[in-house]
Amino acid sequence: MSSEYPHLLSPLTIGSTEVRNRIMQTARAKMYSQNGHDSQRDVDYQVARAKGGAGLLITRNRLVHPTSTTGNQRFMWAYLKDAVATNQRLTSAVHDHGAKIFEQLNHFGGNATFDSADDIRVLWGPSNGKSPSYGEMPKAMEREDIQELIA
Ligand SMILES: Cc1cc2nc3c(=O)[nH]c(=O)nc-3n(C[C@H](O)[C@H](O)[C@H](O)COP(=O)(O)O)c2cc1C
Repeated sequence: MSSEYPHLLSPLTIGSTEVRNRIMQTARAKMYSQNGHDSQRDVDYQVARAKGGAGLLITRNRLVHPTSTTGNQRFMWAYLKDAVATNQRLTSAVHDHGAKIFEQLNHFGGNATFDSADDIRVLWGPSNGKSPSYGEMPKAMEREDIQELIA
């Protein structure tokens, strides 16, 4: 394999991060969250891949704002105040086995459901077009909404 893929097992620098090889796992939502936080099962899942030798893992998508809900409650809510502590538990466990991990941030816009988080939400989208997936009609974001989302 190494002669066919001479770079596969060699390190790679991505921005300020060096990964030990070019084996990575793309983002994969697994629905293991509880109350918007990664569960121990999430941590164990990523650690198993770090132990197996992967160089880089990508978290499943993490929701950046309360207006981004989904068709499923079991996503990670990155906007919660204690989300950083939850992330640190995951990243430390992965780093202990030599892998790196990037966080995928996401806002679903209108492709969401208004009642799938901990409360009913007005959805925000780039326009008030109806979602082909969920049939929901989001509110078109104002400039200040966009600023809030970026923050
Ligand atoms: C169960 C599952 C969950 C996924 N979750 C995400 C996700 O959260 N974010 C994302 O960008 N892609 C997600 N994907 C897409 C994968 O990252 C990947 O791009 C896609 O599955 C194609 O790669 P594969 O042929 O190796 O499966 C998901 C795919 C699957 C099967």
